[in-house]
Amino acid sequence: MDVLEVKSLNKVYPGNVPYRALNDIDLNVAKGEFVGIMGPSGSGKTTLLNVVSTIDRPTSGHVLLNGAAPFRLLPEGLARFRRRELGFVFQSFNLLDTMTVVENIVLPLTLDRMKVDDMMDRARQIAEKLGITGILDKRTYEISGGQAQRTAIARALIHQPQLVLADEPTGNLDSKSARDVMELMSSLNKGEGATMLLVTHDAMAASYCDRVVFIKDGRTYSEVHCGDNRNAFYQKILNVLSLLGGNGHEFPTIRV
Ligand SMILES: Nc1ncnc2c1ncn2[C@@H]1O[C@H](COP(=O)(O)OP(=O)(O)O)[C@@H](O)[C@H]1O
Ligand SMILES: [Mg+2]
Repeated sequence: MDVLEVKSLNKVYPGNVPYRALNDIDLNVAKGEFVGIMGPSGSGKTTLLNVVSTIDRPTSGHVLLNGAAPFRLLPEGLARFRRRELGFVFQSFNLLDTMTVVENIVLPLTLDRMKVDDMMDRARQIAEKLGITGILDKRTYEISGGQAQRTAIARALIHQPQLVLADEPTGNLDSKSARDVMELMSSLNKGEGATMLLVTHDAMAASYCDRVVFIKDGRTYSEVHCGDNRNAFYQKILNVLSLLGGNGHEFPTIRV
């Protein structure tokens, strides 16, 4: 069974002029897969991630996570489901700046009342993998952007969620930090078998995925697979981006 199954998904934003942001999207993600979503600004990427992450409801169609339909749950069950089964990484890191790095990392566990010693053990393990052991007691305003995003990734993974959702996680990072973060996400995907869905504008970031799905005007446009040649994959991604075209301002962070 696939971790994520999206079938005939439609999302219409109501209003005086209703807007169809997603049009009949099908998307399956297998366990352990690392899938990228790319497309021009306004193509529906964030809408798709919000519906998959149960933050927003579909207008029609199915979203199944491990075969279960989260939208059938009542609000409280849905909140618990989101907290336990999903991990989130955002462009803006979303760390709480009144807390230390380690307090931020264990947040998903504290909500489920895990014992403090067990939480700290897990935090140390994941911090080690992400190379942030030395900053665990720092406040978030004392660390760099790259360290902040690694902290956010540790928080997204500490409860071993079924699916990690990342919306432009490298969007606020310089190219060196962006590469470091993508290397780490890739090694957590391979090493921990974490299933990941990554929305990005950045071809370099997308080239760490197993597969990239392109959307345009709310519809699936095409899909490319990595295979065993990452450089060729990167070129294929750039080719599709140039076909998707636009005015060149829509993919501001392509790094060659
Ligand atoms: N809450 C909303 N209400 C109405 N329209 C929206 C809303 N959110 C997004 N949209 C529209 O839906 C389209 C897709 O937006 P979005 O999913 O944010 O695109 P992307 O992340 O690919 O840039 C855009 O045209 C956007 O203006
Ligand atoms: Mg977006």
